[in-house]
Amino acid sequence: MNATTDKQLLPAFGKFIQNLRNIWAEYPDDETRMKKAHRLMEDELLPDPALQEHCKNWPSTEGRKNLLFYTDPDYGFVINGVVRVPGRTGSVHDHADAWVLYGLVDGHETLERFERVDDRSKEGYAEVRLTSANQGQAGHADLVQPYDIHAEQGSDIRSVAVILRSNVLVGRVEQGRYDRETHKYYTGSGPEQIPYELTA
Ligand SMILES: [Fe+2]
Repeated sequence: MNATTDKQLLPAFGKFIQNLRNIWAEYPDDETRMKKAHRLMEDELLPDPALQEHCKNWPSTEGRKNLLFYTDPDYGFVINGVVRVPGRTGSVHDHADAWVLYGLVDGHETLERFERVDDRSKEGYAEVRLTSANQGQAGHADLVQPYDIHAEQGSDIRSVAVILRSNVLVGRVEQGRYDRETHKYYTGSGPEQIPYELTA
């Protein structure tokens, strides 16, 4: 047995994955699955003291990166992490056809939602209007529907989130991106995926 196989998943993370697999097995639609996952994440994963301690050492994901914790081999859901440095501004985007649950483990962020206000007649052009900006606090998760236009803004302190995606995004589908200044709309690949083990 070598050092790698000695490592154990953080117990709360292992349990979260098992519970998600049970949800995916029982319910066929992503909306129901993700709403159940929302409750599970807030009740059992985000309050876990070992996870809260562990996340203090996660590396920054500056430069459009995500930590990749887990991809389910059977159901395809993905668990990522993001670590924002103080003062980080987030760009406006959607997640294409995926549902995304964005759970803050540490710090706080502003979660902005937008609506599209142009008539979609011009290729590569989109006007968006800010409709809400909610303060996201550690312990709470925000469920983002497919094609919802949004941005996550960092704060004056480091912030850390765990993200559950109903489906692999990167390499499967391109996400929408919206430039608020120039109204340019384009699609692109999601963040670079950096494998990272949530082991004790
Ligand atoms: Fe997002």
